[in-house]
Amino acid sequence: MSTILITGGAGFVGSNLAVLLKEKYPNYSIVCFDNLKRRGSELNLNKLRERGIDFIHGDIRDKSDFEQIQVPVDCVIDAAAEPSVLAGLDGNTDYLIGTNLNGTINALNFCLKHKAKFIFLSTSRVYPIKAIEKIDVVEVATRFEIAAAQKMPGINTHGISEMFTLAGARSLYGATKLASEMMVEEYNEMFGLQTVINRCGVITGPYQMGKVDQGVVVLWMAKHFWKKNLSYVGYGGTGKQVRDMIHILDLFNIIDLQIHQIEKFNGQIFNIGGGRKISTSLQELTAVCERITGNKITIHPVPETRKADIRLYITDNDKISALSGWSPQITVDKIMEDIFEWIRNNEQQLKPILS
Ligand SMILES: NC(=O)c1ccc[n+]([C@@H]2O[C@H](COP(=O)([O-])OP(=O)(O)OC[C@H]3O[C@@H](n4cnc5c(N)ncnc54)[C@H](O)[C@@H]3O)[C@@H](O)[C@H]2O)c1
Repeated sequence: MSTILITGGAGFVGSNLAVLLKEKYPNYSIVCFDNLKRRGSELNLNKLRERGIDFIHGDIRDKSDFEQIQVPVDCVIDAAAEPSVLAGLDGNTDYLIGTNLNGTINALNFCLKHKAKFIFLSTSRVYPIKAIEKIDVVEVATRFEIAAAQKMPGINTHGISEMFTLAGARSLYGATKLASEMMVEEYNEMFGLQTVINRCGVITGPYQMGKVDQGVVVLWMAKHFWKKNLSYVGYGGTGKQVRDMIHILDLFNIIDLQIHQIEKFNGQIFNIGGGRKISTSLQELTAVCERITGNKITIHPVPETRKADIRLYITDNDKISALSGWSPQITVDKIMEDIFEWIRNNEQQLKPILS
């Protein structure tokens, strides 16, 4: 392995993976490719430059932009996306589909040309909203829990597995990712491309430019840090909706294994996330943020549920753990402490974006 291309390489996931790969494998050449569409991604460029990671300003929608990459590439990690679950809901779907679907196909064609491996960052949002909302839950003091008895396949108290149904609407974002997954599988089967699909739950950590519709964990900490307001939106406005979260470092550890032992993972799809142990409701997240920052802020209840929202998402990691021995290690408390430190150390730079 010598050269790894990361599309979306200035974004949260892409830039962190680039830095972690370069730290662990100083001899590798890492190339980040990004059009800097995400506000705040430009702030990540310095840390790439400082570490000798190449940056190419390019748009994944435009296949000719890939021609700027002159060196042979051994592996592509596709982390370029319009990652908001609300994207396209205003009726403008061009950018979403252009990036999340056509862009993936451009990246796949690039891989064919280079005989490169392809690691795809997909999402838990490929699973349909109505089916997720049908999961039997128990309401306890601070959160919704998955009930012990379930009627549907692919769900148990560990979380949602790869066996969960894919029938039904899933948000335009989730649909573009699922469509991409299907193309990845075709390229694997028809052209022999080595591929891995990771359906990730909430990924978070330092360098995430959190906003209301994407990166809410960072946003939650940032609003506490700068003593701004927040809202508990949906499900009665009590903040009991639950997500698991995975620290970017835990994600790196499994992607590192996948890149270096591709035969083991080739052609497969994995759910990857924090799981039940590393999950939180908004209410519980508030308590963690209050403890770490020492600040208590106003959080308004908004009872009406937002379009495309889900009550609960928890990853069942059993498949990936059984195959690889990997499991996420970094707790909710530690994740939030890392985010807090990052904000505190970069307060002036981050304030216009996160506060
Ligand atoms: N963060 C999460 O919680 C999460 C969860 C599941 C899956 N994912 C997936 O992980 C990947 C990375 O997400 P992220 O959280 O780092 O998001 P991000 O917005 O921080 O990073 C995406 C990067 O892609 C770039 N980009 C957008 N459109 C582009 C285009 N047309 N051409 C080139 N670059 C473009 C953006 O400028 C940004 O830097 C995405 O594929 C996303 O769907 C993220």
